[in-house]
Amino acid sequence: LFDALDDQPLDAMLTLLHLLRNDPRSDKIDLGIGVYGDDNGCTPVMQAAKMAERNLIETQTSKAYLAAEGDAHFINLLAQRVLGGAEVNRYCGVQTPGGTGALRLAAELIHKANPEARVWLGTPTWINHHALIRSAGLHILEHPFFDQATQSVLFDEMMTALESARTGDVVLLHACCHNPTGADFTPAQWRTIGELVNRKGLIPLIDIAYQGLGHGMEADAAAMRTLLDSVPEAIIAASCSKNFGLYRERIGALWVKADSATAALRARGNLILIARAMWSMPPDHGAAVVRTILDSTDLTQIWLTELEQMRTRLNSMRAELAKAVPQLASVAQQSGMFALLPLNREAVADLRVKHGIYMVENGRMNIAGLQAGNLPRFAAALKPYLQG
Ligand code: LMR
Repeated sequence: LFDALDDQPLDAMLTLLHLLRNDPRSDKIDLGIGVYGDDNGCTPVMQAAKMAERNLIETQTSKAYLAAEGDAHFINLLAQRVLGGAEVNRYCGVQTPGGTGALRLAAELIHKANPEARVWLGTPTWINHHALIRSAGLHILEHPFFDQATQSVLFDEMMTALESARTGDVVLLHACCHNPTGADFTPAQWRTIGELVNRKGLIPLIDIAYQGLGHGMEADAAAMRTLLDSVPEAIIAASCSKNFGLYRERIGALWVKADSATAALRARGNLILIARAMWSMPPDHGAAVVRTILDSTDLTQIWLTELEQMRTRLNSMRAELAKAVPQLASVAQQSGMFALLPLNREAVADLRVKHGIYMVENGRMNIAGLQAGNLPRFAAALKPYLQG
């Protein structure tokens, strides 16, 4: 049986992780996978999460299954943070294994509802988006999003490309902290997207994986919520990996906004059926941690303070990098964990081989991998590869 399989290369992110782990240099700089690091290069468990875990150990009385849709209380509490005061009866939500699980579930639901739907992805987008959408059997179309050389959003080009979208097509949008570019739409651009989506009958699929790491939990969701209020149907895939620091626990959620409460209930039944056939029940521990935090005013405050510290550090590293490398001034205007530097693959490989600096092959750097101690060395190594 297995002789029929083709060899498969690791994707760019996993390859990088492998190379990094096998590099013995003590001064290597990890700007690869999207994990927050503090100024010592550590990814600590957040205090709020530790306190919630202690609480769970004391109070949790059973590990019996919850339900295919996960922990309903977790979903409701998270919905308040992600969706705000949305018209809840037109939404249904389920807990998923990470934001990736949410996206995969979304892709399966879209395929089940309309196998002919095509999904529009910006160029570039998170490298796993392609595989996730394709795995569900959906056809992908691409529209321009970002010009790496000029560091600008190609908004007019994107709108022009989306004019050829068909009614029922899906357009994937990053709510904030775009991965891999850090470049987000302006509020006016979000409004224009809303108009186009409504005029052409498109379905927004919104990936919100970095909420809170750009301008704050509310600010990072604001534009998405305005769009959601203006469209009849939408899908929202959220992750708690980064903003709760619970990466390996795999916590996320998927919401569908339908055009009626009845359609939302039907969507819910379909989500549960699909999830049951993929993972049966989502993992609970991380969701229980998030639920415990969001259910307590004190823990929520501790979590928000820690999140703010992370965001402040990211923004100060952006400012420091822009100051040290004037060609990267735009990095200070971008938000979240990533920047897509104007580097070709050879330059990225050179930086890795000669300087032990690890970035994704497309030039994406994780800003959180910068520290006061390694930034000068990174800036000096980078300069010869930049124009101007
Ligand atoms: C990233 O973009 O680095 C993260 O979302 C982690 C991943 O799985 O790619």
